[in-house]
Amino acid sequence: MSESYTLYNETVMDHFVNPRNMGDLKDADAVGEVGAAACGDIMKISLKIDDVTGTVMDARFKTFGCGSAIAASSMATTLIKGKSIDELEKHFNNDQIVEALGGLPPVKIHCSVLANEALQAALEDYKKRKGIK
Ligand code: FES
Repeated sequence: MSESYTLYNETVMDHFVNPRNMGDLKDADAVGEVGAAACGDIMKISLKIDDVTGTVMDARFKTFGCGSAIAASSMATTLIKGKSIDELEKHFNNDQIVEALGGLPPVKIHCSVLANEALQAALEDYKKRKGIK
C-alpha cells in the first residue's frame, strides 16, 4: 500500500498485513475477550502460562476489528511472551504496545487500549481458574 494512502507507519502495516500469533491456543490456561463499546470491535487473547513460574509461555489472538486493533493485538502477543503475570498486571499497558508499534494515530489509540484490556481480562481469567486472589 502506498504511503499516501495510509496514516500508518511500516511497523503497524507489517503487523496488520502479517499478524503474529493469530488464532487460538489449544488447551489455553486463560482466555480474555473484550469488546469496544465505541466501535463494536471484538478482541480475544488466549494464553499458556507456566503454573510454577507464572510466566506467559505462549499467546494467540483473534480480532474482529480494524487494522490498528489487529496490529496492536499482534504486537501485544509478541511483547508479553516470557513475561510474568505479575509484571504484566502491574507494569504493562497500552503505551508499551503503541511505542513498540512506533506510534498510532491519536484516533486509533483506543485500539491499543482494547488489546491491553483483552490481555488483562485473560490474566483475570487465569487467576479465577487457579483461585488466585
Ligand atoms: Fe475499533 Fe480500532 S476502531 S478497535
